[in-house]
Amino acid sequence: MQSAGSDSPDERGGLGVTLVAGIETSCDETGVALYDSARGLLAHELYTQAATHADYGGVVPELASRDHVRKLLPLLERALAAAGCRREQLQGVAYTVGPGLAGALLVGAAVGRALAWALGVPGIGVHHMEGHLQAAYLDEDTLRTPFLCLLVSGGHTQLVDVRAHGDYRILGESRDDAVGEAFDKTAKLLGLGYPGGAALAELATRGDSGRFVFPRPMLDRPGLEFSFSGLKTHVSTTLHDCAGTDQDRADIACAFEIAVVETLLAKAQRALQVTGHNTLVVAGGVGANRRLREALTTRLAARVVYPRLEFCTDNGAMIAYAGWLRLNAGQQDDLTIAARPRWPISELPRVAG
Ligand code: KG4
Ligand code: ZN
Repeated sequence: MQSAGSDSPDERGGLGVTLVAGIETSCDETGVALYDSARGLLAHELYTQAATHADYGGVVPELASRDHVRKLLPLLERALAAAGCRREQLQGVAYTVGPGLAGALLVGAAVGRALAWALGVPGIGVHHMEGHLQAAYLDEDTLRTPFLCLLVSGGHTQLVDVRAHGDYRILGESRDDAVGEAFDKTAKLLGLGYPGGAALAELATRGDSGRFVFPRPMLDRPGLEFSFSGLKTHVSTTLHDCAGTDQDRADIACAFEIAVVETLLAKAQRALQVTGHNTLVVAGGVGANRRLREALTTRLAARVVYPRLEFCTDNGAMIAYAGWLRLNAGQQDDLTIAARPRWPISELPRVAG
């Protein structure tokens, strides 16, 4: 594991923070990690609540909050043990404060804030999507700003012009369903469990790519906006019009996935042209999708960078790293425990330096 690249502000003074704990509780994964700017990622622990929510076909916010309460401190202890660190060695604490589920965010924010206070070290509330965006730096120390970022998760689909760390301009986003949400809803229609993105992708590998062709939403219009809600209607009418055999379902999954990938590819290409950037970072849960990775890597002229698979979906490592970036630049939050369920990434302050 490498430490951050040289356009990260690690030699710019700030709070002199090296070892940071990261806490992620924005949705249905509890994540804790320890990041050390000199040694890289020391430990990361994850507990997924998928089984808790599976019966309901989606995340139940109250159950999510309660499960975070149960799992967070044991995970922190495990991360410390795995890294061979004592709690007192932590020099900073980073915790997700938004966007996400209010109750779930409050659990991580309260624990993170209290831990920082008890240890007498700075604490910082991290933007979940900045965490996703910065996750690429956990393994890639040659990445430099500016670049284009395609953020594709369960709650967001955005093309972001990353002009500098913390200086994010949203070029285009989804007008309705996020792409991960479209994967999950389509997976549900196809009888797959929750969350369905990875299961749908697996089913699609057995599909015939030539049988159905689904529309590529909004490709006929200029601009960088997305819309994915119409695709699930297409899935449901196609499913209704055939027998619904395993092969039918695989063929539909394949047509859906191709339509999504082609749309993301075309818009990313457009955004690269508009910005003139020659690097694309792909982040968020859907960034784990194989077909998407292959299409972007082989068909774009730009360099395409991805976080490693386990850091595409929610995790504590990306929060530890994004928190370290800001703490190291001298930023920290006060003692207020607050969540920001809605928080546009474009409102973040630029990282000093
Ligand atoms: O970033 P993430 O873990 O959580 C949010 O911030 O929302 O993203 C979760 C989303 C879910 O919608 C999930 O179905 C989707 O990412 N996902 C995938 C794959 N793995 C996870 N979608 C398509 N293909 C995958 N391999
Ligand atoms: Zn996420």
